Amino acid sequence: MARDAAAADERDDSPQFLADVVAGLSSPQKTLSPKYLYDARGSALFEEICRTPEYYPTRTETALLREIAADLSALIPKGAALIEFGSGASDKTAIVLDAAPQISTYVPIEISHDALDQAVARLAQRYPSLDFVPIAGDFTGELRLPESVRAKSAVGFFPGSTIGNLDPAEMQQFLLRTRVLLGEDSVLLVGADMLKDVPTLLAAYDDAAGVTAGFNRNLLERINRELGADFDIQAFRHEARWNAGLQRMEMHLVSLHDQHVTLGGMRFSFSQGESLHTENSHKFSTDSFDALAARSGWQIVQQWISPAPQFAMFALVPA
Ligand code: AVJ
Repeated sequence: MARDAAAADERDDSPQFLADVVAGLSSPQKTLSPKYLYDARGSALFEEICRTPEYYPTRTETALLREIAADLSALIPKGAALIEFGSGASDKTAIVLDAAPQISTYVPIEISHDALDQAVARLAQRYPSLDFVPIAGDFTGELRLPESVRAKSAVGFFPGSTIGNLDPAEMQQFLLRTRVLLGEDSVLLVGADMLKDVPTLLAAYDDAAGVTAGFNRNLLERINRELGADFDIQAFRHEARWNAGLQRMEMHLVSLHDQHVTLGGMRFSFSQGESLHTENSHKFSTDSFDALAARSGWQIVQQWISPAPQFAMFALVPA
């Protein structure tokens, strides 16, 4: 895709971005959607997080995928379309594509146009006979597959425990919609980070080098840059919290003193110690994931769990 077209699309997204930020800053617990963490800078910082010693999910899932690649291939029909939700840099895709050469078509769905373009360019070199049908968009939104893809068996791929960033109601909605999108004979492969000791979790979301803190603060920089706000970035501290009741890690930006921020002609005040909640990462047990699948029209046909720190891959089929 041409760079100009991508830039134009990103401009078109900004009224939604502004509306979401204004709504989030207007609620009693100030909140921003984690999907906005991933502009070009945020995506680069996320890649850097994955290289910190504390952030185990990516390397654990990658090792697990390599280990189980033949099992995954056995679930994938001949000529299938691999449809990846929130594909980012498509780093894990090659593991599946290498193990399952019967895949005919790759459909990456990604909100960042830059990441999508780069991933397709890179994979097209490595897999010259694969068909590419990239979709630039938000995977939590209404999606439609082109007829050429709908004619094939669908294998959904949703790694990274990205599902854990959604609220339980959004997880259910996503899975229900995806069941309709992928059809009756589909398989959906979902990566999910598992419950574990709290120190491991806290360290993973607050690495010593401060990369995660920078990733979190970049959201404020993005709002300043794209929406003309005047956040004083240094006046907010990154905080990782374990929410035991809701079984999730949370990222917050905590105001260091009383201050206000202007955005779109509006003024938002923060008191000292007040937090802006920027992300949830839900952690699962096999029971909680099984229950989620069951209320969302799917059932687990196979599951693989890494040794500690535990990360799981679930293969789901329509119930
Ligand atoms: C890529 C969304 C799964 O929630 O663990 C990493 C993002 N946030 N460090 C996660 C993230 C803080 C990551 N996901």
